[in-house]
Amino acid sequence: MTTPSETKSKTSETMAGDEIVELCRRHTLFEWSAQAAVDPIPVARAKGIHFWTPEGKRFIDFNSQLMCVNIGHGDERVVRAIQEQAAVLPYANPFMATEVRARLSVKLAELTPGDIDAFFFTNGGAEANENAIRIARMYTGRHKIGARYRSYHGGTAGALTLTGDPRRWAAEPGIPGVFRIPDFYHGVQRGFDTAEDALMRTEEVLELEGAKTVAAIIVEPVVGTNGVLIPPDGYMQGLRALCDKYGILLIADEVMAGFGRTGEWFSVDHWKVEPDLISMAKGLTSAYVQLGAVGMRRQIADHFEKNVFYGGLTYNSHPLACAAALATIAVYEEDNLIENARRMGKVMSELFADLESRHPSFGTARNIGLFGIVELVRNKETREPMAPFNGTSPEMQALGKFFRQEGLYTLVRWNTFFTNPPLTITEEQMREAFAIIDKGLEITDQGCE
Ligand SMILES: Cc1ncc(COP(=O)(O)O)c(C=O)c1O
Repeated sequence: MTTPSETKSKTSETMAGDEIVELCRRHTLFEWSAQAAVDPIPVARAKGIHFWTPEGKRFIDFNSQLMCVNIGHGDERVVRAIQEQAAVLPYANPFMATEVRARLSVKLAELTPGDIDAFFFTNGGAEANENAIRIARMYTGRHKIGARYRSYHGGTAGALTLTGDPRRWAAEPGIPGVFRIPDFYHGVQRGFDTAEDALMRTEEVLELEGAKTVAAIIVEPVVGTNGVLIPPDGYMQGLRALCDKYGILLIADEVMAGFGRTGEWFSVDHWKVEPDLISMAKGLTSAYVQLGAVGMRRQIADHFEKNVFYGGLTYNSHPLACAAALATIAVYEEDNLIENARRMGKVMSELFADLESRHPSFGTARNIGLFGIVELVRNKETREPMAPFNGTSPEMQALGKFFRQEGLYTLVRWNTFFTNPPLTITEEQMREAFAIIDKGLEITDQGCE
């Protein structure tokens, strides 16, 4: 075992993977886990769709780390932009105005839907959502926020209260004023509601809550970690109409679905819906430097001409992050990555269909662009999930182990696993990953009844 003093003297040497893991486990906390259960992969370097351990084991990054490294790893253009910004002005406080901040906000105004053209920059997605709900409350003078159960909006107090999934439980009772609107998906056995049904029940909840007390509804237009849930046709347009009817602001949480993941700049673009507020992070910089933002429509920004905007962060509009975002957006454009996500998304759908026809444990799969998920079942008739809600099973654990052994990194959660590679992926790389998945499903097939 390494002692702390030995470690201190080692800062300029390269550590072995085991040592990195041991020290990280001893001196840091890993997210959302009992620490005894964590078994992290030591990562030394990354390029394109791959990353490597210090010992040189290669992984296909089939989750873009945390659905964020959309342009792939190690893009020199972004690295250079960060270096150049660091050399000139690594930091200016948020009361200053900088050229990168100016350029990035103009670019985002061009890319975001409708008349969204003012932005407040944060350190990540949770803070973007915290500020989105605060802005909605200040602008409308109303208090309540509607959110769905099958959602994740971030790990800070307000964002966790908005979050409907089990990550909320330990943070309860949370902030006041948050209520639930109906979900349109009910798990692999019950499936999807129609848009009409989900909207009718949503309007009933608004009536019961008192629609005039509601400041905003926040949704992930395509739900991320809670299942890559693509709303039924008409749902997003209907939600927009309900918000308009009752003077409620619509907040689109595009933290995971934004920046090309679904084959459009933002997932709301699939339905041509214009939200009042839009939160983003992850793909905004492809995580090269941390950055989030909340964008708002002109009329909301105008409200803060005379009224104080009560919000602030030391690292708001951080120059390194703004430079990383500008360079990342240029990469999406130069390399036609949104188009590639669309094209490779079709390949992913075909590969899903092939697996579905051959594997009894393949319950269903969904993808929109390169945002994909597979749900595994024990029986195609009963559609009993391969692991319960918020739980796991020996088969799902064995599948996760197999992926790791074969050098395929992705998120295995409950009865599902995700297929979210960087948007740079080629058809050949996609087929290589699916060949590993194909073999892995032989393990879960054995759990079928
Ligand atoms: C939809 C969504 N919103 C918000 C967040 C929180 O973002 P962050 O972890 O950057 O605070 C996430 C993170 O996964 C997310 O997926």
